[in-house]
Amino acid sequence: MPCHRAVSLVTLTATILAFQAGCAHEKPAPPAASHTQPASTAAQAPATTAGSTAAPSGSGIGNAQAPAKPHQLAPTPPTPPTLTLGAKGVNASHLHNLMLVRDDVVTGSRPEALEDLQLLSAMGVTRVISVDGAKPNLDWAKQAGVEYVHIPTGYNGLSETQQLAIARALRDGTKDGGKIYLHCHHGKHRSAAATACALISLGEMTPLQGEEYLKTAGTAAGYTGLWRSVAQATPVPQAKIDALPANAGMPGGEKLLSMVMSDIENAMDSLKYSQAANWGTPADHPDLIPLAEAGRLKDMLEASGQHKAALAKGAEYAKLLVANLRDADQMEQLLERKAPNTELNEQLKLLDASCKACHVIYRDRDAY
Ligand code: HEC
Repeated sequence: MPCHRAVSLVTLTATILAFQAGCAHEKPAPPAASHTQPASTAAQAPATTAGSTAAPSGSGIGNAQAPAKPHQLAPTPPTPPTLTLGAKGVNASHLHNLMLVRDDVVTGSRPEALEDLQLLSAMGVTRVISVDGAKPNLDWAKQAGVEYVHIPTGYNGLSETQQLAIARALRDGTKDGGKIYLHCHHGKHRSAAATACALISLGEMTPLQGEEYLKTAGTAAGYTGLWRSVAQATPVPQAKIDALPANAGMPGGEKLLSMVMSDIENAMDSLKYSQAANWGTPADHPDLIPLAEAGRLKDMLEASGQHKAALAKGAEYAKLLVANLRDADQMEQLLERKAPNTELNEQLKLLDASCKACHVIYRDRDAY
């Protein structure tokens, strides 16, 4: 365990992350209440909650030609709900805010149990795209026979790379008659914005239509970054979408450094949300635990240094990364010993500044 911290702060070389391989097996287990490990609801009785909104399927993606594969944990697959193109979201199984955005694209909330994925599979869904921060349950996906693509986004909007990656995942996943389920946590803020941005990028929606869709989805007005991303999205040449790795966001798939950075920003955003809630868990993000977010941030910063694009930048870059990592480590320590808010605020400022110290040289100045 000490290996994890001590070495990361002392090694100031271009290969700061070489140690990580050596430490990987000694890594402490993540805190029990980690933000990325939502409480499992798999133990609940399966298939009892489809009732209210479920109806024999009829239209669009709700066609139930392919019943869910039988599985021992879910002997009675939930009935697929009927979804109407462009209509307000409905609930089925544990899924909320299910909306049919295009004949082959449904958006909604995070699957909470195996039967949710089985339900999606019964609706014809072949690929699930998550823009939530939490790690998807790949076991459930495998059992339900659906593919998972994970492209986490924040509440402050979508970067260009994220928009392109989501557009590509959506385009490729629907190419051969496949159907997409795109979800975040609640199924109405980030998932709606991500879907709108992707469809605008693909030239299939205008920003105005996107905003209408967000209104129907119930995207909170307060997430101004999400609304801005949709308002500013533009159609993108196919070649630009093709330039991204096809397997970005897939298990074991290639990740661009910019996507790793987006994940890092995601954790940073979480810390800022927590700060706004007096360094507690914000009421509207009950799964956000600041200490876990600081740990996640640190892990991802370390991992970012292993990226081949990062290693290619050399010793100065590594030095800036370690300085940033040290600030993240300090942040974690202060949270761990419940330091006063003034100290936490000050540390977050320092952390933010050391992110920027690298960006001014290696992101904003370099030609990418
Ligand atoms: C040692 C250098 C370094 C540090 C430290 C660093 N970054 Fe980055 N960051 C980069 C580089 C390089 C890029 C550009 C990657 C690219 O486009 O290929 C980048 C890009 C980004 C992006 C844009 C991603 C996108 O989708 O285009 C965000 C957001 C970001 N960083 C957030 C952060 C945050 C938050 C921190 C601090 C917690 C941080 N970074 C620390 C080097 C760094």
